Amino acid sequence: MILGTGRALPKRVLTNADLEKIVDTSDEWIRERTGIERRYIADESDTTSALCAAAGRAALQEANLSADKIDAIILGTVTGDVTFPSTACYVQEMLGATNAAAFDIAAACTGFIYGLAMADSLIASGKAQHVLVIGGEILSRITDWTDRATCVLFGDAAGAVVVGPSDGERGIIDTYMKSDGRLAHLLHMPGGGTKVPTDVALAEKMMFLRMEGREVFKHAVTAMGDAAERILAKNNLTGEEVDLLIPHQANLRIINATAKRVGMPLEKVYVNVNNYGNTSAASIPIAMNEALAIGRLKKGSRCLIVAFGGGFTWGAAILQF
Ligand code: ACO
Repeated sequence: MILGTGRALPKRVLTNADLEKIVDTSDEWIRERTGIERRYIADESDTTSALCAAAGRAALQEANLSADKIDAIILGTVTGDVTFPSTACYVQEMLGATNAAAFDIAAACTGFIYGLAMADSLIASGKAQHVLVIGGEILSRITDWTDRATCVLFGDAAGAVVVGPSDGERGIIDTYMKSDGRLAHLLHMPGGGTKVPTDVALAEKMMFLRMEGREVFKHAVTAMGDAAERILAKNNLTGEEVDLLIPHQANLRIINATAKRVGMPLEKVYVNVNNYGNTSAASIPIAMNEALAIGRLKKGSRCLIVAFGGGFTWGAAILQF
């Protein structure tokens, strides 16, 4: 079950009006096509590890748990501090979680759901009792700020949850994970690994995120709808029996299409993409933290989360609060 949640944001806010000064775009275009109004952007002193540690610290505080009680830190990120070690190891050091195993998951926007599924399995198998699952990104550092088709979409942030064993009533009911590597080229960062030498990657602008927006949109709508339908059917549930849907916050049109597919009215769908943009693996834990704070999730609530991202990867989970 979820014992605590937290989030952390950089200080700087970048509005659509600010973006109008950087690339040939307009507030109207961005709002109409994506629903995004503003996003948080890291400054030079921010690191992914520090944002993730801050979100993790807040989640531990809410769970009333000391860091040494954490058995594993699982961090969903594609913008870690360095190629290795895992950014989760830096977070472990910052939190003083001396008894934990720490590792990253590179499932892009689905990173949090993959992490939650891992945490659930570790706890169910008795290998861990408390797992800190974090999603955190500084996507602005791999964004091409001359490419209007991508730079208006993303934001920087971290969100975290502490997962513990079910108390019989509350817990993670089920998780679902899927990927399709045949479509990796539609959303990726071609440089930065061992395939392309760094000097070539820099010269060819391969150190930036590249995306075929229309294709990603099409697949995201289908895959998120499929994942949501599958997990509901497997658990003999309908959209009507879910209290809150938290879809990955990429684009308002993708969110609306997913809600429609599972037959959930928009008042049962959590939306904050307007305030943050697409924060990848951070978006669902941030939304969960907000929804709990304002009472849209409370004891007894059944929540469906669903995400899609680079890989392609996608997945869903049902949680009982
Ligand atoms: N401002 C103004 N015009 C723009 C901008 C911009 N920021 N970006 C693109 N355009 C123009 C294009 O150049 C094009 O012009 P043209 O018709 O003269 O050629 C026109 O707008 C339409 O472009 P499309 O790409 O067809 O626009 P579309 O309606 O598909 O919206 C968008 C683009 C918002 C990127 C959409 O495809 C999308 O949301 N895709 C999903 C992307 C996504 O969410 N990725 C995140 C990672 S995966 C995930 O998290 C789910």
